[in-house]
Amino acid sequence: MSRILTGIQSTGVPHLGNVLGAIQPMVRLSNQPEHEAFAFIADLHSLTSIKGATERIQNVQSVSAAWLACGFDAEKNTLYCQSDVPEVTELAWYLSCFTPFPMLANAHSFKDKSERLNEVNAGLFTYPVLMAADIIGYDANIVPVGKDQLQHVEIARDLAGSFNHKYGNTFVIPEASVQTDVMILPGTDGRKMSKSYGNTINIFLPEKELKKVVMAIQTDSTSLEEPKNPDTCNVFQIFKLVAPESMSSEMRNKYLQGGYGYGHAKTELFEYIKHHFSKEREIYREFMEYPDQLENIMLKGAEKARDIITDVLKRVRHTLGFR
Ligand code: ADP
Ligand code: TRP
Repeated sequence: MSRILTGIQSTGVPHLGNVLGAIQPMVRLSNQPEHEAFAFIADLHSLTSIKGATERIQNVQSVSAAWLACGFDAEKNTLYCQSDVPEVTELAWYLSCFTPFPMLANAHSFKDKSERLNEVNAGLFTYPVLMAADIIGYDANIVPVGKDQLQHVEIARDLAGSFNHKYGNTFVIPEASVQTDVMILPGTDGRKMSKSYGNTINIFLPEKELKKVVMAIQTDSTSLEEPKNPDTCNVFQIFKLVAPESMSSEMRNKYLQGGYGYGHAKTELFEYIKHHFSKEREIYREFMEYPDQLENIMLKGAEKARDIITDVLKRVRHTLGFR
């Protein structure tokens, strides 16, 4: 059985792109019997940018509720909040004393910001060390990540490998797994759906607000009667990636025939999202309304995670001469 582990940024309610491109693929992997999955909300990492307690608490809550609503099985697998297992920060310290300075100075995540050094905090600089502790502290075998995180997993591998080389087998060497066939969902303005563009569709919104977001998808001014090009229309591009082939080819024909307005297409998209994700929307709403239940699941997950990192830390402390 191999252990898959992934960290989830806690920067806001997951949007439709996150659900289709990250949550669902990981949920599918985690449901396979040959895998045991660990997923955690990386709230300690979020402190490098988010400073407000209320925002952090809300983000952890909504991200974990979304994962559970999308079918992450917290009984078979483990879902926890990074900061509920502070042992990871102890391991990060040990690792940082074995991390060559240039390894961090060359990390893209830091380099991208190194022109504005006065805006960079040390946490941002040492971000990959904490991420390495997240991974090798839990004996992870496989780490599914986006391309942008590959270098960080490479750093974790390097640190684990050189520690093992120096002190003998202590850490499991993790392997990154990058999904190459992931689809990129466009947002309401046609660019990649992303929180940073403010063009997201949040499927967990109450019905009225969800409808408003879908109805506001940008379209051109072709009149209702005229035939339309589905391939240049944001509504169709989203529908195509969300709905089954039979439904999208039917919509394609309506575009080409004319007499079918963008308002009609938006309404169909809205109805589809509402029905297709009705279970997810309901479970999410319940968790947000009764956070105690969510809290219990997360604390149970943290206990399971703590047992593992405690064992790993025992090995490391012993090796390094700490009691
Ligand atoms: P955002 O761009 O909204 O800040 P993140 O960078 O937090 O999103 O993405 C988290 C995960 O969701 C990543 O694994 C990423 O690949 C996936 N993801 C983000 N946006 C999309 C999208 N538009 N289509 C498909 N997957 C996406
Ligand atoms: N840095 C990752 C991101 O930005 C989140 C993360 C933190 C992570 N720790 C991790 C991912 C450990 C995988 C494994 O998406």
